[in-house]
Amino acid sequence: MASPLRFDGRVVLVTGAGGGLGRAYALAFAERGASVVVNDLGGDFKGVGKGSLAADKVVEEIRRKGGKAVANYDSVEAGEKLVKTALDAFGRIDVVVNNAGILRDRSFSRISDEDWDLIHKVHLRGSFQVTRAAWDHMKKQKFGRIIMTSSASGIYGNFGQANYSAAKLGLLGLANTLAIEGQKNNIHCNTIAPTAGSRMTKTVLPEDILEALKPDYVAPLVLWLCHESCEENGGLFEVGAGWIGKLRWERSLGAIVRQRNQPMTPEAVKANWRKICDFENASKPQKIEESTGSIIGVLSKIDSDGGVSANHTSHAASSKATSGSGEAVGYTLPSFSSAYTELETIMYALGVGASVKEPKDLKFIYEGHSDFSCLPTFGVIIAQKSVMRGDLVEIPGLSIDLAKILHGEQYLELYKPLPRTGTLRNETVVADVLDKGSGLVILIDVYSYSGKELICYNQFSLFLVGSGGIGGKRTSDKVKEAVAIPNRHPDAVLTDTTSLNQAALYRLSGDWNPLHIDPNFAGLAGFNKPILHGLCTFGFSARHVLQQFADSDVSRFKAIKARFAKPVYPGQTLKTEMWKEGNRIHFQTKAQETGNIVISNAYVDLVPTSDVLAKTPSEGEELQSSLVFEEIGRRLKDVGHEVVKKVNAVFEWHITKDGSVAAKWTVDLKNGTGKVYQGPAKGSADVTITLSDDDFIGVVLGKIDPQKAFFSGRLKAKGNIMLSLKLQTIFKNYAKL
Ligand code: NAI
Repeated sequence: MASPLRFDGRVVLVTGAGGGLGRAYALAFAERGASVVVNDLGGDFKGVGKGSLAADKVVEEIRRKGGKAVANYDSVEAGEKLVKTALDAFGRIDVVVNNAGILRDRSFSRISDEDWDLIHKVHLRGSFQVTRAAWDHMKKQKFGRIIMTSSASGIYGNFGQANYSAAKLGLLGLANTLAIEGQKNNIHCNTIAPTAGSRMTKTVLPEDILEALKPDYVAPLVLWLCHESCEENGGLFEVGAGWIGKLRWERSLGAIVRQRNQPMTPEAVKANWRKICDFENASKPQKIEESTGSIIGVLSKIDSDGGVSANHTSHAASSKATSGSGEAVGYTLPSFSSAYTELETIMYALGVGASVKEPKDLKFIYEGHSDFSCLPTFGVIIAQKSVMRGDLVEIPGLSIDLAKILHGEQYLELYKPLPRTGTLRNETVVADVLDKGSGLVILIDVYSYSGKELICYNQFSLFLVGSGGIGGKRTSDKVKEAVAIPNRHPDAVLTDTTSLNQAALYRLSGDWNPLHIDPNFAGLAGFNKPILHGLCTFGFSARHVLQQFADSDVSRFKAIKARFAKPVYPGQTLKTEMWKEGNRIHFQTKAQETGNIVISNAYVDLVPTSDVLAKTPSEGEELQSSLVFEEIGRRLKDVGHEVVKKVNAVFEWHITKDGSVAAKWTVDLKNGTGKVYQGPAKGSADVTITLSDDDFIGVVLGKIDPQKAFFSGRLKAKGNIMLSLKLQTIFKNYAKL
């Protein structure tokens, strides 16, 4: 048999525990070891009067049975006092059962202000006050269980209970949000809608039924939901007579009743009514993201069905006046930082199709590669939070509805290759707002810094559907313009078939919109199945360009501009058509299966090869490790012969600084009398070792154990790793400074 659910050491506060359901809960918790605060105001069921008798009797009953309990006689409206009683008597608070309640039943037209207010004060405000008083204690101890008591009257409505129904369903809304806010601190909040015989239901139910509907048939559910082993959070349960059922929302597939650039009419709503209300194949949404996400999906669907990208400039009749967008320009959004390690850069590279099947891609997905590099387009991942968090709604002069935003275009420029790991600070500003008639285009500029150094710059062009037509300017010198492709056959074409899991993989880089993974969601948005992220296709295309025209050398990447034209489905083949015009590579990307252009008017600007060479600092400059290598070289001169005999291996070193390889050194202890020189091994190295300049010095000074550094990933070795063990000899004997 399962072990009994105990509450030893737990402190439970039950409001309205002087009778009915609350009393049953208090007794049951105490019987299983909890210390209980029995709260009850002691008035009548209409909320009139007060007294200590009700709570005292229950406390007495508990103590008589050997349990621990104290009484509290305050109204739940004074929540702090109830929680103070728990803290004073038992030193903590673990569980709050919001149960206290009264009735002021009247048909709607006869409800007085007092009837309305009193019901709300006791049920909704009382539960809020008590829960808020307990919340911080629960947060600190990283444990809390909260019950809200709703009612079938709230869920379904009930004649004569308008005030009570409204307050009772309000409790469900409160619980839904507390479940979200409390989750990370192990605070769970669930709601019950009980049915039991009590003084409250005496006037409603016949006596024999009342007798049968014992509060004891409700209490066990409350105990389970409040137990530390119960993971349930945000649930709603009907319970009574020994039966328990869970409730959830259901949403019909619905219908899109408007077309792009057409006004939406009540006639179209009428024509689609049956479909809107048809629950066949309905979904069961559980999160708010499933609501906003599907709305966003609808927008993309409507927009893409017209075959024109989010950036089209036609005038729609349905534009909403948005005044004062000028105020928005120059507004800075809260800065934030993005930290990443090799894990994130590799995950991103896999997300945009880098694969072991393409040898040039290996350096993007293997951290031990001698030239491990971060794909340049990872720069958008660093900055994307600026448009994904809710901060956009704070922009003054614009009333932004997040559900109506489409990502139209993207520009990214790098000022140096992205470090392989790093923490970048991002500063975001609204660069300009353009009126395109059918909507507004908001240019969001994001500057990403490592320390004081600007590493990359992004411009997100967001299309705010339906807000244009306010006579604002149509162009801006701030825009990074998309550029038409040359009028000739492409100079090169690369294709890649995306996997069915492509979107599932790509979303791990931070764009969690369910539109890209949840079939129900995609269906609601009007797509046959989840679609690939536009920025995923963008990553594929940029990788193609770099591979074709820059030998996958990330230091050649300068900038990219792309326009998102149509959706791609995971599994489709992406075909990047490229045209070389000097250092600008124009491209467009097609979904091979349909021939649709999915990224249009795009280009990548490359750094001219001569500049790359000129920019490369003379290798090893300012590195502490250079001194050590030079010293090893000097010392080996006399004893080289002997060491070569002992070690017989060529070591290539990649010394990193700020995440990038800053110098390569070779220590040849295999040929002749040995040699130390700057640069990669002439011939081949037996082992290649990568570590930072600082760690290298740590190893030399004996402060860092190379083996530990290897296992913790700070030192990377490729080739015959066992040979690295011999390095200790070199360091011990020849590197002491
Ligand atoms: P009850 O009337 O036996 O118990 C409610 C208790 O709350 C009473 O002892 C009362 O003195 C206390 N109370 C009232 N106002 C208070 C305040 N301001 N501060 C502190 N205590 C106060 O009623 P019952 O049936 O046990 O109801 C418990 C809860 O369950 C209530 O919230 C009620 O709305 C809810 N409920 C009960 C149903 C049932 O079938 N019994 C049906 C649906 C909901």
